[in-house]
Amino acid sequence: MKIAVLPGDGIGPEIVKEAVKVLNALGEKFELEEAPVGGAGYEASGHPLPEATLALAKSADAILFGAVGDWKYDKLERALRPEQAILGLRKHLELFANFRPAICYPQLTGASSLKPEIVSGLDILIVRELNGDIYFGQPRGTREAPDGNFKGAREGFDTMRYAEPEVRRIAHVAFQAAQKRQKKLTSVDKANVLETSQFWKDIMIDVSKEYPEVELSHMYVDNAAMQLVKAPKAFDVVVTGNMFGDILSDEAAMLTGSIGMLPSASLDKNNKGLYEPSHGSAPDIAGKGIANPLATILSAAMMLRYSLGRPEQADRIESAVKKVLEQGYRTADIITPDCKQVGTVEMGDAVIAAL
Ligand code: IPM
Ligand code: MG
Repeated sequence: MKIAVLPGDGIGPEIVKEAVKVLNALGEKFELEEAPVGGAGYEASGHPLPEATLALAKSADAILFGAVGDWKYDKLERALRPEQAILGLRKHLELFANFRPAICYPQLTGASSLKPEIVSGLDILIVRELNGDIYFGQPRGTREAPDGNFKGAREGFDTMRYAEPEVRRIAHVAFQAAQKRQKKLTSVDKANVLETSQFWKDIMIDVSKEYPEVELSHMYVDNAAMQLVKAPKAFDVVVTGNMFGDILSDEAAMLTGSIGMLPSASLDKNNKGLYEPSHGSAPDIAGKGIANPLATILSAAMMLRYSLGRPEQADRIESAVKKVLEQGYRTADIITPDCKQVGTVEMGDAVIAAL
């Protein structure tokens, strides 16, 4: 089992190190190979996604990814910014299905900014389409406005678009995920305003005929943002496009107490995947040894389950994480009174001890 390890920038290297430690403690034979990505890739070879890194990612069975981005690269032209590394990997490897589970562990109900009764027992799954939408749609750029009230003025523009096969494949992934859970799927769109969304919605309805046991509902994205903080437990699986999914998954993360708890999987059609915490590179706390490694450790568990065929090892890691939370270990982002505050490395050690 070959795993490409791409730590990236900011807290990426610190948290990935802990996840690698946990993988190595499982007693399996993994071939781990590391490569620079993001700002680190740019420093190493002038591009956020160096060719050798992409080649390694392609040849591996799975990819463990930290995070990319740092303010110091904000002035670079877009094609060279760290974010292009993750966007490039998603696109080149056709990782179109992004799973972002938001689970509120009972020990962390007090760490959420929402009332405990709103979040306790929360277990929802956001399925985000990752290869299309306004993230990748052409044309895009800046130009002289060709029409409208500001004709002739400089304007910035992007294109929101989805092709039918693209919507169909994410629909199937989401229905199948719902089948394995509470069989409730909410498709989030903005069909009251956007053509792309109406098209998305029509295809969701069409695909739903193949999954009669799954109850499909539709929700506008503004309402979904509100319902997520009002009554999040009413959701089971949410399926949505790339941009809405980006926004809603950060919101859902906070229901769990901290975005530092949220793992993610980005899969292609054969379940080869890239696994990363849903949070970013957090350059403000990088190098301080205080970042929460649990989202990355839980991402490694998802990797064992979805791409490496080791569900029993995934269970072990997830149980170990629950155990350390029960034991009261907390990084700064999830600290509540009466708990033991630990740093990144101690948290990793605690998970290994619990294993
Ligand atoms: C995420 C991130 C990325 C995205 C950025 C880093 C490009 O916010 O994975 O949610 O927008 O998809
Ligand atoms: Mg995001």
